[in-house]
Amino acid sequence: MTVQDSGKVALVTGASRGIGYGIAQALVARGDRVVITGRGEDALKDAVEKLGADRAVGIAGKAHDEAHQAAAVERAMEAFGRVDFLINNAGTNPVFGPMAELDLGVARKVYETNVISALGFAQQTWKAWQKENGGAIVNIASVAGVSASPFIGAYGMSKAAMVNLTQQLAHEFAPVVRVNAIAPAVVKTKFAEALYEGREAEAAAAYPLGRLGVPEDIGGAAEFLTSEKSGWITGQTLVIDGGIFLNAGVG
Ligand SMILES: NC(=O)c1ccc[n+]([C@@H]2O[C@H](COP(=O)([O-])OP(=O)(O)OC[C@H]3O[C@@H](n4cnc5c(N)ncnc54)[C@H](OP(=O)(O)O)[C@@H]3O)[C@@H](O)[C@H]2O)c1
Repeated sequence: MTVQDSGKVALVTGASRGIGYGIAQALVARGDRVVITGRGEDALKDAVEKLGADRAVGIAGKAHDEAHQAAAVERAMEAFGRVDFLINNAGTNPVFGPMAELDLGVARKVYETNVISALGFAQQTWKAWQKENGGAIVNIASVAGVSASPFIGAYGMSKAAMVNLTQQLAHEFAPVVRVNAIAPAVVKTKFAEALYEGREAEAAAAYPLGRLGVPEDIGGAAEFLTSEKSGWITGQTLVIDGGIFLNAGVG
């Protein structure tokens, strides 16, 4: 079935695989064009090919690099003439251990990659297109940002900051641009592999819905949050967690 062109364009960071790719797929399936980013050139090329070279372009770079942020938005404007939606998805979680021993340099790096990058991309899309023409932003936070998350505290702090960044931008960019966040629990990707590899059934059993998340679960939500169906929603963080927070009062 041929998909009708929506005429809309999305920039999705960190989209050569995993959740970002799942989001890009969902947006392309409804007729958007996408610009996707990632550090590795080859993976990015493969992803563009799978999405369709007429629907997607890739630009390689590190999310925290300001020159890359500007270049990615320029690429969207050159290739497609607009950038309606920004999905701030690229993120990192390089450290595991107690907060009492957290290397402060690593904590700064996590904040830079996960939070400052998202702000940088938002500044660029606002300036290049959204301020005059409107659109929507979706920030990928985490359940680690809305509760304590033992041993991944630096990551949790950065994702909590993304929740507040979402509110700040939602307030400042209203009424022209809506800004929301998604906070997933464990989604089956390379990033989260260590949390379930070799014990998926056991990990899934903790979830009332009986399974771990898949990128499509997040793709569907991002599609909704960048559509007119969510036209009166801004500043919110949508927790997508297979019901795991429902366990909070148990035990
Ligand atoms: N999976 C989960 O359980 C889960 C749960 C909650 C939130 N999240 C969040 O979801 C987002 C995506 O995670 P994922 O699970 O989809 O991870 P993933 O499968 O490892 O994919 C990450 C994507 O981002 C790119 N990337 C990584 N670091 C980057 C950087 N510094 N600059 C630019 N691109 C970068 C990767 O490509 P390269 O490696 O080639 O750069 C890849 O395309 C992250 O923000 C993560 O915190 C994930």
